[in-house]
Amino acid sequence: MPNFEVPISPDELAGLSCEEEVYSRIYFSNEKITVKEGPFSESIFSELPEKNWTLLVQEVDHWSPQVAQFREYFKFLPSWRMDDVTISYATDGGTVGAHLDLYDVFITQVEGKRIWKLENKARSREESTGDNLEDNPDVKLLNNFKAEQEYILEPGDILYIPPGYAHYGVSIGESLSFSMGFRAPSVRDMLSTYFDQILSQIPEDELFQDPKRTQASHPTELRMFSKENLPQWPGGLGFPDESFLIPFGEFLTRPLRGFWLDEEIEIKELPEEFTLIRNGSTRICHTNLDKTYVFVGGKSFTLSNKEAVETFLQSLEVSSDQLQKYLSDNEFKQFLLELIKTHAYTLES
Ligand code: SIN
Ligand code: CO
Repeated sequence: MPNFEVPISPDELAGLSCEEEVYSRIYFSNEKITVKEGPFSESIFSELPEKNWTLLVQEVDHWSPQVAQFREYFKFLPSWRMDDVTISYATDGGTVGAHLDLYDVFITQVEGKRIWKLENKARSREESTGDNLEDNPDVKLLNNFKAEQEYILEPGDILYIPPGYAHYGVSIGESLSFSMGFRAPSVRDMLSTYFDQILSQIPEDELFQDPKRTQASHPTELRMFSKENLPQWPGGLGFPDESFLIPFGEFLTRPLRGFWLDEEIEIKELPEEFTLIRNGSTRICHTNLDKTYVFVGGKSFTLSNKEAVETFLQSLEVSSDQLQKYLSDNEFKQFLLELIKTHAYTLES
């Protein structure tokens, strides 16, 4: 890093950590790591021990134009991928503990020395949550870190840590390091931005139409639209495949009102002879995919006997005689019991 002049002193960093808007923490690395959150009062710095603590201040580039210049060294990557410059000042033995970051980070040793230990590969989500974490309310630290690489960083050295690689650094004497953290927006946020933009192009009163609809082959069947009838979405968005019918069926049958909120009916067995009557407010439909799905009350049931389902759903009222040959199928019987329990159907015997 030719011509690099340290753009901030430890005292200035401490001053920044006393500001209301600045996000800062002090990590104490004794037997257990403990953390104090900023903003701090100036007096704390005269009370700190000589060793084993680290002051970490985030987004220093936001507050200091001199520190913002540091981003210039990383111009080989686009600026939209850069997040912030976090600065850590550590005393001898100071560490934040073994952890991983979900984003790329370049750690630059600016003053003093720090020893860094790293694992050899990125951990999966399972390997970095739950039982892998120390019981520490202050900070998420790994309890099974294994040092597989080790580097001592001296001024001007840069260590790149890819996302998910467990690591920690320990200060050797006093040291100052700058971390250029990279930004990775969540895929969920990216898609939600995209869909929000598409949704904003659709007038609220634009309703689905199917002028070419042919006669239904079964009154409750939900089918994929035919090619000629495929809705035209804005933004060149392709129509999803038939797996769309599952959330769509749940959406279509969300209960409008009433019965659904009533307490469940207690029933364990069907009587010998009965009639099942669909409630007026019940919305129900089904679709035949890999299995037969029945949607009712915003929920879906998966059943293997298509014939049983289609016979049952053919009319608003159905008798035990009509269902006789399917009642030995426990899955189907449990489904009927569930419809009675939740008031979707009324049982008469
Ligand atoms: C540190 O500078 O000690 C913490 C930075 C990090 O591990 O991301
Ligand atoms: Co880190």
